[in-house]
Amino acid sequence: MKTRTVGLAECKTQMLAIGHFSDTKRPLPEIIELCKKLGGAIEQVVKLGDFKGKEGTSTVIYGDGRIGAERVLLVGLGEQKKATIDTVRKAAALAAGKAVGMKVQTMTIAFHGAFGARFDLGLLAQAIAEGIYKGSYRYDEYVTSEEDSRKDSLAVELIDKDPAKTKRLENGLATGVIIGKAQSYARTVANRPGNVINPPALAEEAKKLAKRTAGLSCTVLDEKQMAKLGMGGILAVGSGSKTPPRFIVVRYAPRNKSARKLPTVAFVGKAITFDSGGISIKPAQNMEQMKLDKTGGIAVLAAAKAAAEMKLPVNLYAIVPCAENMPGGSSYRPGDIVTTYSGKTVEIQNTDAEGRMILCDALHYAVKQNCDIIIDIATLTGACMIALGTHKAGLMSNDERLSRDLQKAAETSGEKVWPLPCGDEYAEEMKSKIADLKNTGSRWGGACTAAAFLRQFTEKKKWAHLDIAGVDCIEKSNESQAEGASAFGVRLLATYLINLVGKKAR
Ligand code: BES
Ligand code: MN
Ligand code: ZN
Repeated sequence: MKTRTVGLAECKTQMLAIGHFSDTKRPLPEIIELCKKLGGAIEQVVKLGDFKGKEGTSTVIYGDGRIGAERVLLVGLGEQKKATIDTVRKAAALAAGKAVGMKVQTMTIAFHGAFGARFDLGLLAQAIAEGIYKGSYRYDEYVTSEEDSRKDSLAVELIDKDPAKTKRLENGLATGVIIGKAQSYARTVANRPGNVINPPALAEEAKKLAKRTAGLSCTVLDEKQMAKLGMGGILAVGSGSKTPPRFIVVRYAPRNKSARKLPTVAFVGKAITFDSGGISIKPAQNMEQMKLDKTGGIAVLAAAKAAAEMKLPVNLYAIVPCAENMPGGSSYRPGDIVTTYSGKTVEIQNTDAEGRMILCDALHYAVKQNCDIIIDIATLTGACMIALGTHKAGLMSNDERLSRDLQKAAETSGEKVWPLPCGDEYAEEMKSKIADLKNTGSRWGGACTAAAFLRQFTEKKKWAHLDIAGVDCIEKSNESQAEGASAFGVRLLATYLINLVGKKAR
């Protein structure tokens, strides 16, 4: 992706994408020139009501030699006053989806003009880049038929006729490309099935990632090393599988040492490469979706990749406890009492509540590294999906400020969160009579009791938990998003870090 200083009407391209609000009758000032050259075609399509500018809609007008572009894609932006930075991200995703569908090879985007001075130009360009990656992504690693696989790639540019503005677009674009690529990387690794990505395979993938990314390093603990440390939680969960668990730690430390003390942040991500439920086995229906039970772990790896590429001044740990939850002769069972890495004992009531059993060891590991801030992200509970549906992740925390910062990052990144409680009354439900804790609560408030369980492994650290069970997967493809893993959290966590260190690249 690149930027170019050129006018809308002159720009030579296969597709020129511009935005249109549903409540503006007249074309926006910066496209008047284009409208004139097209002889009123844009005004007509709006006036006749064929295109109303609603979000998620678009229409094509052909240039026919009157302008530089072969076609103009008018993309609906919805109501002007409701527009947010995510509006432009979604518009870009839709445009990219259309371009891929029409097998267009060059697309030029000029959405930013519609927003006037409402948003920072760099931020707009960043969101557009993220949207382009989101909308053009397809998972086709295992598609061998010529017809369905994609050989042609899409080249995208952002344009403005003012070189000063092009420069500002370019700065934000670089950030957006880094985050967009991290998002696509996460989707691809997450979409790989359980027979391809098992715990040792994910560890290898993390090592490969660290090797090719400047600033990252990776260490992996195998089952023997975990046993030495006493990581009883993750070992119990992994015991039923033929492929042993792995404890993956990717570190990012900035290259040039800064004089001031940098904050140390830990991202902890759940990676169950397949969750059958174990002995407390799940019903067959939709079980195949449980290959996506590793998305939290993959999101933190991708966020670390983005942080390193942006060279953010922060010390970062991406901690990924990884296991496969399977039934078998050596599986852990309901009734077992497990001693976790922290020394706390847990009575197992349900082997399908495995996420908290691997996360408690990883949280304790983060505490031991003396991190200032710990954020975990996990496809933890069906209950969270029931509570919030598929639009927002649950957010639990022991720190007001951290919770607010994540909510702010959610607004800009478009990956939405909603605060839920995890206080002492929920923790009370997780007490066992024969051990320190048990791994399930009552029938009610399952997302909150799960978070309250995790909270007890965070000592006095600032901690937040993101339950992404409802948002990690796109069930059905649409024009702006292919089905499968959504990579939820990559943009959110990257944006959180950008805000934390007050990066002023744009
Ligand atoms: N990975 C699941 C949660 C999940 C469910 C994610 C649906 C995505 C979609 C988790 O390991 C699980 O099985 N949780 C149980 C916990 C229960 C046994 C206390 C659940 O939510 O049913
Ligand atoms: Mn489970
Ligand atoms: Zn699970």
